[in-house]
Amino acid sequence: MKTPKKKFISVVGTRPNFIKLAPLYNFFKSNESVIHLVCHTGQHYDFSMSKVFFQELQMPEPDFFLGITGNTHAEQTANIMTEFEKLLEKEKPDLIIVFGDVNSTMACSLAASKLNIKIAHVEAGLRSFDRTMPEEVNRIITDVLSDFLFISEQSGLINLKKEGISEEKYFFTGNIMIDSLVHNMDAIDNSKSFSKFNLDSGNYLLATFHRPSNVDKKENFLEIIDFLLETSKKIKIIFPVHPRTLSNIKNMGLLDNFNDNIILTEPLGYIDFLCLVKNAAIVVTDSGGIQEETTFLGVPCITFRDNTERPATVDIGTNILAGTSIVNLKKIMNVFYTGKMSEKKQIPEFWDGKTAVRIGNILLEKFYSK
Ligand code: UD1
Ligand code: UDP
Repeated sequence: MKTPKKKFISVVGTRPNFIKLAPLYNFFKSNESVIHLVCHTGQHYDFSMSKVFFQELQMPEPDFFLGITGNTHAEQTANIMTEFEKLLEKEKPDLIIVFGDVNSTMACSLAASKLNIKIAHVEAGLRSFDRTMPEEVNRIITDVLSDFLFISEQSGLINLKKEGISEEKYFFTGNIMIDSLVHNMDAIDNSKSFSKFNLDSGNYLLATFHRPSNVDKKENFLEIIDFLLETSKKIKIIFPVHPRTLSNIKNMGLLDNFNDNIILTEPLGYIDFLCLVKNAAIVVTDSGGIQEETTFLGVPCITFRDNTERPATVDIGTNILAGTSIVNLKKIMNVFYTGKMSEKKQIPEFWDGKTAVRIGNILLEKFYSK
């Protein structure tokens, strides 16, 4: 007798989630044994933060859109949970798949867990050991609730073991974000987005900042802007601005603090942005995903944070953890100007474009083999 089809719902809400979903979406698209549906919570909603990724990564509109709002963490989390619970009651999936560490990830895991629905967490086990970061709380809760934990780098294995998560639950499958990068490399190379901004390949700095700790406090953000202004005397800078950062620039009245040497743009689509990363002389960021993409591409990256949940990028990749002192950031930039940045360019294990296939096959085996 034929086994009835299982129903999996992947949940996404923010820019990095969409990029992590695409490879798994493609895996299930070509597999007829599973009904795979996508739910978008609405956490990110601007065209440039959401729809552009579905278009560029060739995914259709999500099957469900929760359209949540909420100003505080509790409001956002509670609203996602309320709407997602209704969807779960109606759809009765066998599994939900969540990605990364954002509020949508944690809220949907919590709602599913209370209904005894199985949870798969893609990008499990990462830890910054800094609970002042909202993402760290989301990671810990999601991992505790998950039934299948898919780990992106070695540190995840160590962390989950230490936390006493049962070994049968976790799998070292590699980095799904790198799958998207590998699959789109031709388009990224063809984009030549740097020339649209009159930049020369290998001769500009790419900056992104969106962590609340860097951009929500005026004094911290002002220091970052001063650093960018000083640096722009030596190298051209492009700064695609995240909506949180833009609203702070406006609300704090900081727009006039920038000058023409710094190109401020809207958030960019995936292909154009990755082309800018690949051709940058150096990247300065507080993003999680960009630390990984620069390591894969061998582009020097300075991470303006006190910690990273992605230590492989520092230990064997091109990432330098600068802390949040501008003095230190300037010191590292001085090393960069002399051309003496570290040459280490190892790519972590299983960052090879095949992570979604590994994850998909494990899930099929778990749900279909007796
Ligand atoms: C969220 C994640 C963060 C992740 C980042 C990726 C949490 C707690 N934070 O941070 O881990 O690194 O996404 O980019 O889940 N906004 C818009 N348009 C949009 C999206 C957001 O205007 O399309 C504005 C809204 O005013 C919103 C603010 O940005 O209140 C912050 O958005 P939110 O999703 O709460 O947090 P992020 O800073 O984007
Ligand atoms: N990204 C993008 N356009 C941009 C900035 C970032 O496509 O203007 C991509 C980036 O390449 C990476 C992901 O968005 O794949 C990272 O998102 P973000 O930095 O917002 O979140 P984090 O990884 O810090 O959670």
